[in-house]
Amino acid sequence: MRNKVTVVGAGNVGANLAVNLANKELADVVMVDVVEGVPQGKGLDMLQMGPIEGYDVRVSGANDYEPTANSDIVVITAGFPRKPGMSRDDLLMANYEVVKTATEQAARYSPNAILILVTNPLDAMCWTALQVSKFAKNRVFGMAGVLDTARFRAFIAQELQVSVENVTAVVLGGHGDTMVPVVRLSNVSGIPLTELLDEGTIARLVQRTRDGGAEIVKYLKTGSAYYAPSAAAVEMVESILKDKKKVLPCAAYLEGEYGIHGLYVGVPVKLGSNGIEKIYELKLTDEEQAMLAKSAKAVEELVSVMKQKMR
Ligand code: NAI
Ligand code: 2OP
Repeated sequence: MRNKVTVVGAGNVGANLAVNLANKELADVVMVDVVEGVPQGKGLDMLQMGPIEGYDVRVSGANDYEPTANSDIVVITAGFPRKPGMSRDDLLMANYEVVKTATEQAARYSPNAILILVTNPLDAMCWTALQVSKFAKNRVFGMAGVLDTARFRAFIAQELQVSVENVTAVVLGGHGDTMVPVVRLSNVSGIPLTELLDEGTIARLVQRTRDGGAEIVKYLKTGSAYYAPSAAAVEMVESILKDKKKVLPCAAYLEGEYGIHGLYVGVPVKLGSNGIEKIYELKLTDEEQAMLAKSAKAVEELVSVMKQKMR
């Protein structure tokens, strides 16, 4: 029997995610969206792509959650994207309501699923999904680090004119302006980045990574990035469904790791069939630890707004 993945939100990220999952034949896919006809139409279109691409998975769409029953994974992309000038945090209250409803419904129909959050502000939305679903923390986490490190890797590869495959980058922290690209641990086939690029160039690439989402929003004007974000979520889904145990940066619920308590923050984790199977605690310098604490503080501020709303 094939695996089943539900994608909530059939917009730019959700639809690309669904089509990538189908192309890789990872699972049957159900898309759910509030807009009548859109998930159904996109689902049918993707089903008809099967004979061309050679995939046999079923793809469908719905406006309710009944067809999503017993999904192995539910990826929540539903919500509003940024417009130029907006930060990811500006989306907080609007997307809180969307994620709350989506989580309630997804958890009701798929009580054993793993939930992967994509909706922004990412770390705060993961916290919402954990509270609402009451699932164990290893089954609720978020996609951001795979995207942020991919951006850093792409910029490094472009600068050095080397293959992206040889570039390893580490980015920790919340998926926001305070994210922490860790230069010391980033390298090209084991060669430290600091031996390959001067300080000024590295600082420029770090800043471009932090602004990576905003740079695309500025071009698109009516939405945010979706090709790389959907590919990043697919990498996570694949690692879980195939139990590959990839070590990937994900937004994980921390209870003391890195000195952070009760918050979602991006850290390296092992992703397998049980979701997050291990959180890796890196030894950070004082400066890196301070940057991570600042990033966690920014997440905490958003969570405290939501806690007041939930009272
Ligand atoms: P989009 O506007 O193209 O799609 C969002 C979809 O959600 C729309 O089709 C909309 O009808 C649907 N929707 C709204 N309320 C819903 C509900 N209650 N139930 C089901 N569906 C609902 O936006 P896009 O570009 O797909 O982005 C989606 C979210 O993902 C945004 O919040 C965006 O900021 C976030 N994002 C996060 C990234 C990350 O790294 N974590 C990367 C890229 C986007
Ligand atoms: C991004 O980083 C909008 O969070 C999204 O592109």
